[in-house]
Amino acid sequence: MNAKKLAGEKAVEFIKDGMIVGLGTGSTVHWSILKLGELVKQSLTIKGVPTSKQTEQLAKELGIPLVNMSSIEQIDITIDGADEANPEFELIKGGGGALLREKMVASISKRMIVVMDETKYVAHLGKFPLPVEITQFGWEMTSKQVSTLGCEPKLRVENNLSFITDNGNYILDCHFGEILDAKRLNEELNMIPGVVENGLFVNIADTMVIGNSDGHVEIIH
Ligand code: A5P
Repeated sequence: MNAKKLAGEKAVEFIKDGMIVGLGTGSTVHWSILKLGELVKQSLTIKGVPTSKQTEQLAKELGIPLVNMSSIEQIDITIDGADEANPEFELIKGGGGALLREKMVASISKRMIVVMDETKYVAHLGKFPLPVEITQFGWEMTSKQVSTLGCEPKLRVENNLSFITDNGNYILDCHFGEILDAKRLNEELNMIPGVVENGLFVNIADTMVIGNSDGHVEIIH
């Protein structure tokens, strides 16, 4: 059983006619977006707000109508994946590099539904290195400042080149070990001037849809 597909498709059951829907990024929410595309073809009326160029392109190909975030007040539901989630609904996101737009979209959503397979649901965050989006300008200095919070930041590289986000920034992947106070680390990171945003989502998600390889799906509110 494809656990990501199970979770991704299940979450779409929360979407109703007329909603504005935040469309996350990654291989799990990919299944939600495909399902939404099918439903839109049948008659579902929604407007999507994409969290990355990749998702925007997929939604366009599927004929999902899109709306610009600046022209709306609120999003009804955002569906998005996570790299890790704990029982307190705290998340690490940004494995795909889309964390800034994902956080912006989630922050104006009445509800954020996180879709994942069972491997992402953990007692404590931190095994997955925390992605931190930083400006290119002065990035070495920012990296040094981030390291004082207790990690060894690694500049993300893709195909031998520095990875560049949709917003033109770099990503530092930061291994902090077990993150016991996500709220505090989130605040401390975002106090560093060269940090644009980090992948910790605290007090944002409120529903988790977890797909299991044995075929069952768990929903936690
Ligand atoms: C994108 O930047 C990330 O935040 C993704 O949402 C996250 O990495 C989950 O991706 P998968 O669903 O592909 O595991």
